[in-house]
Amino acid sequence: MGSVYSYLMSWVYPGMTYDLTPDPVTGLSERDCHAIMDTWALVADRKSIKQNGVEFFLTYFKAYPSMQDLFPAFKGRPLDELRTSPALRAHATSVMYAIKSYVGTVDDAETLAGLVTKMATSHVPRGIKAENLEVRTEILKILVAP
Ligand code: HEM
Repeated sequence: MGSVYSYLMSWVYPGMTYDLTPDPVTGLSERDCHAIMDTWALVADRKSIKQNGVEFFLTYFKAYPSMQDLFPAFKGRPLDELRTSPALRAHATSVMYAIKSYVGTVDDAETLAGLVTKMATSHVPRGIKAENLEVRTEILKILVAP
């Protein structure tokens, strides 16, 4: 499958070939790292990163209302009201920039592990579990939204 992709990409971008060897720590190849960076760039340019962060949280809270309750500042507040809340905008922005730091170090396993460990350490006492991070569906909904 990987070689088919590389073959097709060599037609789209002649001369571009990525190393497909998985990193022993992250399991990500050079091609995977580029795919992650290029995909992230679609939602994280300076103009739209804040609004995309807000949209993400609104979609996330709609899908998992109990998660909204974990945030003292957002608990019980209607989503329509949160849409224009400076507190949500600030939180969404700090989360988006944290993710940006992970994407920026996706090819540096040691630094990436350090950053993710920092986030996990501050979230475990809040009762956040690994499964709460399984948010791919919500991210896809935002990416395909008009
Ligand atoms: C990649 C995933 C995530 C990133 C990068 C992230 C990042 C952050 C950052 C940067 C902060 C502010 C600094 C801090 O207090 O540690 C924060 C706070 C917080 N996060 Fe996350 N977070 C993530 C996932 C989650 C998830 C899945 C939940 C659960 C719903 C969650 C709940 C919270 C809560 C409750 C706070 C404290 C908010 C407050 O009271 O100010 N986070 N997060």
